[in-house]
Amino acid sequence: MSSFKPLVFSGVQPTGNLHLGNYLGAIKKFVALQDQSDCIYCVVDLHSLTAQLVHDDLEDQTRQITAAFLASGIDPMKHIVFNQSRVMQHAELAWIFNCVARIGWMNRMTQFKDKAGKDRENASLGLLAYPSLMAADILVYRATHVPVGEDQKQHLELTRDIAQKFNNDFSGRIAARGLGVEMQVGEETVQGYFPITEPVIGGPAARIMSLRDGSKKMSKSDPSDLSRINLTDDADTISKKIKKAKTDPDALPSEVKGLESRPEADNLVGIYAGLADMTAEQVLAEFGGRQFSVFKPALADLAVEKLAPVAGEMRRIMADTTYVDGVLRDGGERAGALAEATMRDVRSIIGLLQD
Ligand code: TYM
Repeated sequence: MSSFKPLVFSGVQPTGNLHLGNYLGAIKKFVALQDQSDCIYCVVDLHSLTAQLVHDDLEDQTRQITAAFLASGIDPMKHIVFNQSRVMQHAELAWIFNCVARIGWMNRMTQFKDKAGKDRENASLGLLAYPSLMAADILVYRATHVPVGEDQKQHLELTRDIAQKFNNDFSGRIAARGLGVEMQVGEETVQGYFPITEPVIGGPAARIMSLRDGSKKMSKSDPSDLSRINLTDDADTISKKIKKAKTDPDALPSEVKGLESRPEADNLVGIYAGLADMTAEQVLAEFGGRQFSVFKPALADLAVEKLAPVAGEMRRIMADTTYVDGVLRDGGERAGALAEATMRDVRSIIGLLQD
């Protein structure tokens, strides 16, 4: 019996400014995983339609995320970088998953509740079904590992539920076609067509918070630009935003426990740790007992040192749209071939006639 080969998949939406949370929570991990496994990184343009249907600059935003991937060090020759809408099999599998998943599962998603707000009846059907497309993104490649920030955890649990239900509902037909793969889920060894994907979340930067309010996550949609560091900010802007970041009047503690109930201090220590590839403990070993008047300039220098080269490289790559579009076209062709192989199996398992 075969087993799943490790394969990493993740996606980023082309909606507005990429920020430090996206970089530390996701893109930096994408880069690190390249040495260990095959990776597929996707600009999820279809997902972005759930936030804004009519865009004047969706193409440019798609190129901008691609440029951020490449500028951060993702290798599009060794791995696959493409935009989701080029591979129609994502939408095809999402439809099938819409028939596997239950409305109740979708209604429970906290991101749906947050984004739909009070007037849920008026939210788009796409917003409700968003996690089903996300499951399809991952499972159309039968990916085993998905690096994301903490906010995507619930969506990945749903991806696991969808895979499990598909494997169970079609177990007989999967076995009859010899398409079952053995896998370890917790203590158990089970068989199925889709892997039960592992989220790759964690480290000090899994949830970067707003610089203005330590109880809110750093987000593209926050109306205050001071709340986030954008990947395209210049050195002066980065320094200014860190200087203005909300803090409390106390010195930094020397133990991580001392950061409890100090969300802003906790966040800045997490950002330092994420940028410097350190743990929060190591940061506090260096800065414990120091005031923010010492820590903030050190953090600003580190942020500029790490982010300015990425921003510069992004601008250089963005200027060459022919190159960026070529990367996406080539990645789309390679991704499409893999996705079609899965869909041939899936159509056969379900009983959808094909040649
Ligand atoms: P998106 O585009 O909102 O965010 C991209 C990645 O950035 C992470 N992230 C953060 N990490 C730490 N702190 C923050 N403040 C922060 N804000 C965002 C997100 O967790 C994410 O990893 N649904 C996904 C896109 C998606 C996807 C997928 C991801 C679509 N299909 C398949 C993985 C696999 C999203 O909206 O990410």
